[in-house]
Amino acid sequence: MEVVLTGIKPTGQPGMLHIGNYVGAMKPSVAASRNPSVHSYFFIADYHAIGGDADKLARSTLEITASWLAVGLDPNKVMLYRQSDIPEIPELAWILHCATAKGLMNRAHAYKAAVAENEATPGRDPDQAVMMNLYSYPILMAADILMFKATKVPVGRDQKQHVEMARDIAQRFNHNFGETFVLPEAAIGDNIATLPGLDGRKMSKSYGNVIPVFAGEKELRKLVMKIKTNSLEPGQPKDPSDSALYEIYSAFAAEEEAASIAKRYAEGIAWGEMKQVLFERINAEIAPARAEYERLMANPREVEDVLRQGAEKARAVSRPFIAEIRDRVRVRPLVR
Ligand code: TRP
Repeated sequence: MEVVLTGIKPTGQPGMLHIGNYVGAMKPSVAASRNPSVHSYFFIADYHAIGGDADKLARSTLEITASWLAVGLDPNKVMLYRQSDIPEIPELAWILHCATAKGLMNRAHAYKAAVAENEATPGRDPDQAVMMNLYSYPILMAADILMFKATKVPVGRDQKQHVEMARDIAQRFNHNFGETFVLPEAAIGDNIATLPGLDGRKMSKSYGNVIPVFAGEKELRKLVMKIKTNSLEPGQPKDPSDSALYEIYSAFAAEEEAASIAKRYAEGIAWGEMKQVLFERINAEIAPARAEYERLMANPREVEDVLRQGAEKARAVSRPFIAEIRDRVRVRPLVR
């Protein structure tokens, strides 16, 4: 049985999930979660976000959960929970600390980068401002993954090392204490569809060229009108393979729809008209999800209830497993 586990850190800028995330990650993972031969776990990694912008944590948790629900994640079919609602996770993290070599953590990219920056600054201690949660971040992440026996962990390239560390830690634990954990594998999203942004470069928060998925209708139209085009006049034939508008359109549309738009490019569709076509296409797909997102954002109680019920379901797995793990490390009652 494939167990796919996805964690998101609630540190996002408000409203910054963009249509590139939507077509590249959210839509495919929601579709995959409907496959009955896969167990899917989705969680908000809020313990990983302590030490960041504390005021954003709750709001970001609400936004991420509401987004997932709005695009169709079904909490009755998947596990959807908040990390901090599962006390067995930090408990496992501690136990894993006891089976993890310091040398392994010394090799973590994020920690090494922080130390390298200090070393490059004259007069600074190499460990200045390096907190223990940065240092043992990979161990908490290993606990997230190993607790639910995930086989596949879809992550960006920057997180690949962490999944490999989870695997190393699991292997060592299994060797020391007997077969306990399933060895996870990272699924790297290199083949994830990316979309061009407003300026034609890859759509990315860091370029500030994004179209937020849940932008209101007016805002969506305004942003689509800003997408860069060349200076070809109406009536002049245009090349779909050299057009951000077309690229975004095809990510939303079925093949036949995209082919018929390609024909209109050859016939010289005006950029203004194409922008209108694109706006309508995106809006048609997003509008129901946007309405649901707005409804959920106005009803945090409902989202909270979904998360709590999700935690109860997840704990039905984590409670018995932590008992087994404690027993493995001989943390046991005196008598049964
Ligand atoms: N570290 C991940 C990130 O920054 C988030 C995360 C925490 C995660 N725990 C996880 C991802 C477990 C996958 C599995 O993006």
